Amino acid sequence: MRAVSSNDERRALTALLAAAGCVAPSEEADELLEAAAGSADALAQMTARRVAGEPLAWVRGGTWFAGRWVRVRAGVYVPRWQTEGLARRAAALLPEEGTAVDLCTGSGAIALALSASRPRARVVGTDIDPLACRCAAENGVEARLGDLAAPLGAALDGRVDVVTAVPPYVPTGAIGYLPRDARDHEPMSALDGGPLGTDLLERVVVAASRLLRPGGVFLVELGAGQDALLAGPLADAGFTTPLTLADDDGDLRGLEARLGRPAAT
Ligand SMILES: C[S@@+](CC[C@H](N)C(=O)[O-])C[C@H]1O[C@@H](n2cnc3c(N)ncnc32)[C@H](O)[C@@H]1O
Repeated sequence: MRAVSSNDERRALTALLAAAGCVAPSEEADELLEAAAGSADALAQMTARRVAGEPLAWVRGGTWFAGRWVRVRAGVYVPRWQTEGLARRAAALLPEEGTAVDLCTGSGAIALALSASRPRARVVGTDIDPLACRCAAENGVEARLGDLAAPLGAALDGRVDVVTAVPPYVPTGAIGYLPRDARDHEPMSALDGGPLGTDLLERVVVAASRLLRPGGVFLVELGAGQDALLAGPLADAGFTTPLTLADDDGDLRGLEARLGRPAAT
């Protein structure tokens, strides 16, 4: 094994990453050097993949999410820091021995955060992508393969305390504006939400209403303007008026809605 690294090598790596368009090249250089653990061959391989545009999390084998290391296999959606607030809020709402379902679980990042916070709760994730399911299972998540709630059968219908979901919600016409890592590498099945971005969001609302007990809480991530588009489907499915969730930049990131109409006065 050839060894790295001197300050010169770090500087050269930073310059290479900057030239490849990485937005935080010196931080990424540090991360790659740490992941290479002194092996020049490993560093060269990882650098080549990153320069070619692969997401850093795939190159490193994982990423931090809500304070935990999450393994992210190449080919699986990379959990975003903007989702951490939704995961933390869901954990706060989940009873100690409650039940949660994370629809569209991907690497299982949200499910993992829920289990870490509520170790005695039952947390199940579902995903339609076998690679994502395998990745979630490697992260210790009980992961079921299939469309939304279908792989759960009827066993949890009306019994779940918290349902979370980060479905694909990017409008098809906006895919081209995503950062290169996502646009050119992440699976379209994790990103493309149809013409308005709401194709799967609307189906997730119906699945959540089936799973939740009365008073149970649904937390869903979505994009700008999609809160208005989801208001009707949420009301039709029996949810109360949703609260909006913002990320740390103050941007709309999601909705939180309870199943069950307010008592008549
Ligand atoms: C935006 S990613 C979110 C992954 C994860 N929740 C996270 O935040 O990192 C969307 C995920 O939904 C999955 N997905 C797409 N269509 C689905 C469907 N009909 N049923 C279940 N999962 C689906 C994709 O495979 C992908 O893993």
